[in-house]
Amino acid sequence: MYGHKNVAHLPAGFPQFFEKGLGASIWDADGHEYIDMMCSWGPIILGHQNPLVDEAVRQQLAQGECFNGPSSRMVELAELLTDTVAHADWALFCKNGTDATTLAVAVARTETSKRKVIMANGSYHGIAAWSSSPTAAGIPADERAHTIRIEYNDVASLRAAVSEADDDLAALVLTPLRHDISRDLEPVSPEFARAARELCNRHNAVLILDEVRTGFRIDPVGSWTSLGVQPDLSAWSKALGNGHAIAALLGTRTLEAAATRITATGSFWFGSVPMAAALATVREIRRPESQAILTASGTKLQNCLRTQAASYGLDVNVSGPPALPFMTFANDPGFELSAVWARAALDEGAYFHPTHNWFLGTAHTDAVIDRVLNATDLAFARVARVTAEPGADRLLRAG
Ligand SMILES: Cc1ncc(COP(=O)(O)O)c(C=O)c1O
Repeated sequence: MYGHKNVAHLPAGFPQFFEKGLGASIWDADGHEYIDMMCSWGPIILGHQNPLVDEAVRQQLAQGECFNGPSSRMVELAELLTDTVAHADWALFCKNGTDATTLAVAVARTETSKRKVIMANGSYHGIAAWSSSPTAAGIPADERAHTIRIEYNDVASLRAAVSEADDDLAALVLTPLRHDISRDLEPVSPEFARAARELCNRHNAVLILDEVRTGFRIDPVGSWTSLGVQPDLSAWSKALGNGHAIAALLGTRTLEAAATRITATGSFWFGSVPMAAALATVREIRRPESQAILTASGTKLQNCLRTQAASYGLDVNVSGPPALPFMTFANDPGFELSAVWARAALDEGAYFHPTHNWFLGTAHTDAVIDRVLNATDLAFARVARVTAEPGADRLLRAG
């Protein structure tokens, strides 16, 4: 239950319940404060209780949240997003990342009148039938019969999947980089991104970019824009509303008619307060000054983690873009060292996940990163002590 967000997957001692967040800090139900290096698994990109977002929320609450139809916040947000994201000509709003990725697949199938969807092994696009893993409980295998899996960054496996789909390929769904759980993050190879675009063009299929996790933390105009590759559809959520429940499917003009034909709605999809929150969030996060904080703080964190680990004789791999950093230890396939490190950092007041990439926000100022680095230094010291103990293997397994 609750998938990766269930605390049962974390080392003993990690809290499940939280009472408060402010800026870069969170407090658990027992009143312990931690610097939040997960940002609520991505949504909190401007810090908890960001004053700009909270003021927009207060103003909208004074007008109302839930009406018979949307408020004009929806039009304003669609205009802001199509002005921000390079490939986007229209927007469709929903609540969760899974809504947006699944609607993208529906639009692609409607446009092409085809069925097959290609996605990468290990990629997460939310829990829906089409994207579910072969071991998912409660989803019959025939509900994912039209999904073909490839290896991320492997052009040969992509070409093979396109051949397998034959003339039934509706969509290729990719994340902007490889950010699977329990492995180092891997940038997309430009060759792979270009092959994806070219194959979709050649086979009249739709290229869908899942920006749910990467959105606004790599490039607000779209994560593949700097590569010169644009998707036809992109799915956004998480950071879009700085913690308020909102997601968006963005698309190019050629897919607008198909998007208007799909049947998709939800009781809360027109909610005005999350749209007001998203307006404030996007206006703030697309500013170069905001992006500069993410880059500077993330780069400092990544560089200092490497230096700290080396000073204890520990071999680590720090990966990911600055605002989506991650770290693994060498020769630690079971993530035992990561668990010891994350648990020790928690004791020192910094909440890191041992097996999932972390998230930075603009509340992670230089001073906050310095406090985090105090915690990580002590965490590396704990790992160094544990690995030096006789019978370390057994101790590590015990967490
Ligand atoms: C890349 C990606 N796509 C889709 C989703 C699903 O989003 P949600 O949990 O909001 O449905 C997630 C959630 O973590 C994600 O990381």
